Amino acid sequence: MKEQKSLRLDKYLADMQYGTRSQIKEIIRKGRITVDGAVIKSADIKVIPGTNVVTVDGVSVSYAEFEYYILNKPAGVVSATEDNSCKTVLDCIEDKQRKDLFPVGRLDKDTEGLLLITNDGQMAHALLSPKKHVDKVYYAEIDGDFDSEMKEKLERGVSLGDFVTMPAVIKILEKGQELSKIEITIREGKFHQVKRMFEAVGRNVTYLKRLSMGPLKLDEALFPGDYRVLTEEELGELKRITEKE
Ligand code: URA
Repeated sequence: MKEQKSLRLDKYLADMQYGTRSQIKEIIRKGRITVDGAVIKSADIKVIPGTNVVTVDGVSVSYAEFEYYILNKPAGVVSATEDNSCKTVLDCIEDKQRKDLFPVGRLDKDTEGLLLITNDGQMAHALLSPKKHVDKVYYAEIDGDFDSEMKEKLERGVSLGDFVTMPAVIKILEKGQELSKIEITIREGKFHQVKRMFEAVGRNVTYLKRLSMGPLKLDEALFPGDYRVLTEEELGELKRITEKE
Protein backbone atom coordinates (compact mmCIF):
# COMPACT_ATOMS: atom_id res chain seq x y z
CA MET A 1 0.00 0.00 0.00
CA LYS A 2 1.22 3.51 -0.83
CA GLU A 3 2.66 5.28 2.20
CA GLN A 4 0.76 8.50 3.00
CA LYS A 5 2.89 11.63 3.18
CA SER A 6 2.38 14.15 5.94
CA LEU A 7 1.33 17.69 5.09
CA ARG A 8 0.77 20.92 6.94
CA LEU A 9 -2.59 21.26 8.64
CA ASP A 10 -3.42 24.51 6.82
CA LYS A 11 -2.66 22.93 3.42
CA TYR A 12 -4.76 19.87 4.34
CA LEU A 13 -7.74 22.11 5.07
CA ALA A 14 -7.13 24.50 2.17
CA ASP A 15 -7.03 21.55 -0.26
CA MET A 16 -10.38 20.41 1.16
CA GLN A 17 -11.84 23.87 0.48
CA TYR A 18 -12.03 25.20 4.04
CA GLY A 19 -10.80 28.62 2.88
CA THR A 20 -7.53 30.32 2.07
CA ARG A 21 -4.45 29.56 4.13
CA SER A 22 -4.95 32.84 6.07
CA GLN A 23 -8.67 32.14 6.69
CA ILE A 24 -7.70 28.71 7.98
CA LYS A 25 -5.07 30.18 10.31
CA GLU A 26 -7.87 32.31 11.76
CA ILE A 27 -10.14 29.27 12.27
CA ILE A 28 -7.24 27.47 13.95
CA ARG A 29 -6.55 30.48 16.20
CA LYS A 30 -10.18 30.36 17.33
CA GLY A 31 -9.69 26.77 18.52
CA ARG A 32 -12.23 25.27 16.09
CA ILE A 33 -9.87 22.54 14.88
CA THR A 34 -8.85 19.32 16.54
CA VAL A 35 -6.28 16.73 15.52
CA ASP A 36 -6.72 13.33 17.16
CA GLY A 37 -9.05 14.93 19.69
CA ALA A 38 -6.71 17.72 20.81
CA VAL A 39 -7.57 21.35 20.07
CA ILE A 40 -4.86 22.83 17.84
CA LYS A 41 -3.81 26.46 18.05
CA SER A 42 -1.03 26.55 15.43
CA ALA A 43 -1.11 25.84 11.67
CA ASP A 44 2.48 24.84 11.92
CA ILE A 45 1.87 21.15 12.52
CA LYS A 46 1.89 18.26 10.10
CA VAL A 47 -0.78 15.62 9.77
CA ILE A 48 -0.88 12.29 7.97
CA PRO A 49 -4.07 11.78 5.92
CA GLY A 50 -5.85 8.59 6.88
CA THR A 51 -3.90 8.33 10.13
CA ASN A 52 -4.58 11.56 12.01
CA VAL A 53 -8.22 12.53 12.54
CA VAL A 54 -8.86 16.19 11.73
CA THR A 55 -12.13 17.89 12.72
CA VAL A 56 -13.54 21.37 12.08
CA ASP A 57 -16.30 22.42 14.50
CA GLY A 58 -16.58 18.78 15.52
CA VAL A 59 -17.04 17.46 11.97
CA SER A 60 -14.41 15.06 10.73
CA VAL A 61 -12.62 16.13 7.51
CA SER A 62 -11.20 13.33 5.38
CA TYR A 63 -8.49 14.11 2.86
CA ALA A 64 -8.55 13.28 -0.86
CA GLU A 65 -5.15 13.55 -2.51
CA PHE A 66 -6.62 12.72 -5.90
CA GLU A 67 -10.16 12.68 -7.19
CA TYR A 68 -11.36 11.04 -10.40
CA TYR A 69 -14.82 11.58 -11.84
CA ILE A 70 -16.46 10.45 -15.05
CA LEU A 71 -18.92 13.04 -16.34
CA ASN A 72 -21.43 12.69 -19.15
CA LYS A 73 -20.93 16.24 -20.34
CA PRO A 74 -24.19 17.86 -21.41
CA ALA A 75 -24.40 20.29 -24.34
CA GLY A 76 -24.26 23.97 -23.33
CA VAL A 77 -21.53 23.53 -20.71
CA VAL A 78 -17.95 24.64 -21.33
CA SER A 79 -14.86 22.45 -20.75
CA ALA A 80 -13.10 24.97 -18.53
CA THR A 81 -12.35 25.36 -14.85
CA GLU A 82 -14.08 28.74 -14.69
CA ASP A 83 -16.07 30.99 -16.98
CA ASN A 84 -17.72 34.36 -16.40
CA SER A 85 -20.94 33.65 -18.26
CA CYS A 86 -21.32 29.94 -18.78
CA LYS A 87 -21.72 26.86 -16.62
CA THR A 88 -18.53 24.80 -16.62
CA VAL A 89 -17.94 21.08 -16.42
CA LEU A 90 -16.57 21.62 -12.91
CA ASP A 91 -19.87 23.21 -11.85
CA CYS A 92 -21.45 19.84 -12.75
CA ILE A 93 -19.38 18.04 -10.06
CA GLU A 94 -21.36 19.17 -7.07
CA ASP A 95 -19.77 17.13 -4.27
CA LYS A 96 -16.13 17.48 -5.24
CA GLN A 97 -13.75 17.78 -2.29
CA ARG A 98 -10.81 19.41 -4.04
CA LYS A 99 -10.67 22.82 -5.64
CA ASP A 100 -7.90 21.99 -8.14
CA LEU A 101 -9.86 19.66 -10.44
CA PHE A 102 -9.77 20.12 -14.22
CA PRO A 103 -11.15 18.35 -17.30
CA VAL A 104 -8.76 16.04 -19.14
CA GLY A 105 -8.95 17.54 -22.60
CA ARG A 106 -11.77 19.61 -24.00
CA LEU A 107 -15.07 18.88 -25.62
CA ASP A 108 -16.78 21.67 -27.56
CA LYS A 109 -19.65 23.46 -25.87
CA ASP A 110 -22.20 21.60 -28.01
CA THR A 111 -20.49 18.18 -27.68
CA GLU A 112 -21.78 15.64 -25.18
CA GLY A 113 -20.28 12.58 -23.60
CA LEU A 114 -17.35 11.20 -21.72
CA LEU A 115 -15.11 13.59 -19.85
CA LEU A 116 -12.64 12.63 -17.14
CA ILE A 117 -12.33 15.20 -14.36
CA THR A 118 -9.41 14.93 -11.97
CA ASN A 119 -6.52 16.75 -10.29
CA ASP A 120 -4.04 14.06 -11.35
CA GLY A 121 -1.79 16.07 -13.65
CA GLN A 122 0.53 13.18 -14.47
CA MET A 123 -2.37 10.99 -15.63
CA ALA A 124 -3.91 13.83 -17.65
CA HIS A 125 -0.61 14.59 -19.31
CA ALA A 126 -0.11 10.96 -20.30
CA LEU A 127 -3.68 10.59 -21.63
CA LEU A 128 -3.33 13.71 -23.76
CA SER A 129 0.22 13.09 -24.93
CA PRO A 130 0.35 12.63 -28.72
CA LYS A 131 3.02 9.97 -28.14
CA LYS A 132 0.63 7.71 -26.18
CA HIS A 133 -1.89 7.51 -29.06
CA VAL A 134 -4.88 7.01 -26.80
CA ASP A 135 -7.96 6.09 -28.86
CA LYS A 136 -10.96 8.41 -28.59
CA VAL A 137 -14.24 7.09 -29.95
CA TYR A 138 -17.02 9.48 -30.99
CA TYR A 139 -20.57 9.01 -32.20
CA ALA A 140 -21.31 11.61 -34.89
CA GLU A 141 -24.42 12.55 -36.83
CA ILE A 142 -23.77 14.29 -40.13
CA ASP A 143 -26.00 16.25 -42.46
CA GLY A 144 -26.18 13.99 -45.48
CA ASP A 145 -25.13 10.74 -47.01
CA PHE A 146 -21.76 9.18 -46.32
CA ASP A 147 -20.14 7.26 -49.15
CA SER A 148 -17.23 4.86 -49.38
CA GLU A 149 -14.98 7.55 -50.85
CA MET A 150 -15.47 9.73 -47.75
CA LYS A 151 -14.84 6.73 -45.52
CA GLU A 152 -11.61 5.85 -47.32
CA LYS A 153 -10.37 9.46 -47.14
CA LEU A 154 -10.90 9.58 -43.37
CA GLU A 155 -9.30 6.16 -43.00
CA ARG A 156 -6.23 7.35 -44.92
CA GLY A 157 -5.97 10.68 -43.08
CA VAL A 158 -7.11 14.10 -44.31
CA SER A 159 -5.39 17.46 -44.47
CA LEU A 160 -6.86 20.03 -42.11
CA GLY A 161 -4.66 22.81 -43.41
CA ASP A 162 -2.22 22.97 -40.54
CA PHE A 163 -1.74 19.18 -40.28
CA VAL A 164 -2.67 15.82 -41.77
CA THR A 165 -4.68 13.59 -39.45
CA MET A 166 -3.64 10.08 -38.56
CA PRO A 167 -5.84 7.37 -40.08
CA ALA A 168 -9.23 7.15 -38.37
CA VAL A 169 -11.33 4.03 -37.87
CA ILE A 170 -14.80 4.50 -39.31
CA LYS A 171 -17.92 2.48 -38.62
CA ILE A 172 -21.05 3.44 -40.55
CA LEU A 173 -24.02 2.88 -38.27
CA GLU A 174 -26.73 4.30 -40.53
CA LYS A 175 -26.79 5.97 -43.93
CA GLY A 176 -29.41 8.37 -45.26
CA GLN A 177 -29.80 11.30 -47.70
CA GLU A 178 -30.52 13.76 -44.87
CA LEU A 179 -28.61 12.21 -41.99
CA SER A 180 -25.96 9.55 -41.44
CA LYS A 181 -24.70 8.10 -38.17
CA ILE A 182 -21.02 7.31 -37.88
CA GLU A 183 -18.69 6.03 -35.19
CA ILE A 184 -15.21 7.47 -35.59
CA THR A 185 -12.06 6.58 -33.66
CA ILE A 186 -9.16 9.03 -33.63
CA ARG A 187 -5.86 9.06 -31.78
CA GLU A 188 -5.24 12.79 -31.73
CA GLY A 189 -7.19 15.55 -30.06
CA LYS A 190 -6.72 18.74 -32.04
CA PHE A 191 -9.16 21.63 -31.76
CA HIS A 192 -12.56 20.71 -33.34
CA GLN A 193 -10.82 17.72 -34.86
CA VAL A 194 -13.80 15.48 -35.59
CA LYS A 195 -15.90 18.33 -36.99
CA ARG A 196 -13.00 19.48 -39.15
CA MET A 197 -12.37 15.95 -40.43
CA PHE A 198 -15.97 15.59 -41.59
CA GLU A 199 -15.86 19.09 -43.09
CA ALA A 200 -12.78 17.99 -45.04
CA VAL A 201 -14.96 15.38 -46.78
CA GLY A 202 -17.86 17.81 -47.29
CA ARG A 203 -20.13 17.06 -44.32
CA ASN A 204 -21.20 19.01 -41.24
CA VAL A 205 -21.46 17.35 -37.86
CA THR A 206 -24.90 18.08 -36.38
CA TYR A 207 -24.44 16.08 -33.16
CA LEU A 208 -21.30 14.78 -31.47
CA LYS A 209 -20.82 12.61 -28.41
CA ARG A 210 -17.63 11.07 -27.03
CA LEU A 211 -18.09 7.39 -26.18
CA SER A 212 -14.66 6.46 -24.85
CA MET A 213 -11.12 7.54 -24.15
CA GLY A 214 -8.62 4.69 -23.95
CA PRO A 215 -10.04 2.06 -21.62
CA LEU A 216 -12.57 4.48 -20.09
CA LYS A 217 -16.07 4.08 -21.53
CA LEU A 218 -19.07 6.33 -21.17
CA ASP A 219 -21.38 4.77 -18.60
CA GLU A 220 -24.75 4.65 -20.38
CA ALA A 221 -26.49 4.84 -16.98
CA LEU A 222 -25.25 8.43 -16.73
CA PHE A 223 -27.65 10.93 -18.28
CA PRO A 224 -26.12 14.13 -19.69
CA GLY A 225 -25.01 16.17 -16.68
CA ASP A 226 -24.63 13.12 -14.42
CA TYR A 227 -21.30 12.01 -13.02
CA ARG A 228 -19.81 9.47 -10.65
CA VAL A 229 -16.48 8.55 -9.08
CA LEU A 230 -14.39 6.15 -11.19
CA THR A 231 -14.54 2.53 -10.07
CA GLU A 232 -11.33 0.88 -8.77
CA GLU A 233 -11.23 -1.13 -11.96
CA GLU A 234 -11.50 1.94 -14.24
CA LEU A 235 -8.84 3.74 -12.24
CA GLY A 236 -6.54 0.71 -12.35
CA GLU A 237 -6.89 0.49 -16.14
CA LEU A 238 -6.10 4.20 -16.57
CA LYS A 239 -3.07 3.94 -14.27
CA ARG A 240 -1.83 0.90 -16.14
CA ILE A 241 -1.70 2.77 -19.46
CA THR A 242 -0.52 6.11 -18.10
CA GLU A 243 2.05 5.35 -15.42
CA LYS A 244 5.66 5.57 -16.49
CA GLU A 245 7.31 2.30 -17.47
N1 URA B 1 -13.80 16.92 -32.03
C1 URA B 1 -14.60 17.98 -32.19
O1 URA B 1 -14.74 18.50 -33.29
N2 URA B 1 -15.24 18.46 -31.12
C2 URA B 1 -15.14 17.90 -29.88
O2 URA B 1 -15.77 18.37 -28.94
C3 URA B 1 -14.30 16.79 -29.73
C4 URA B 1 -13.64 16.31 -30.82
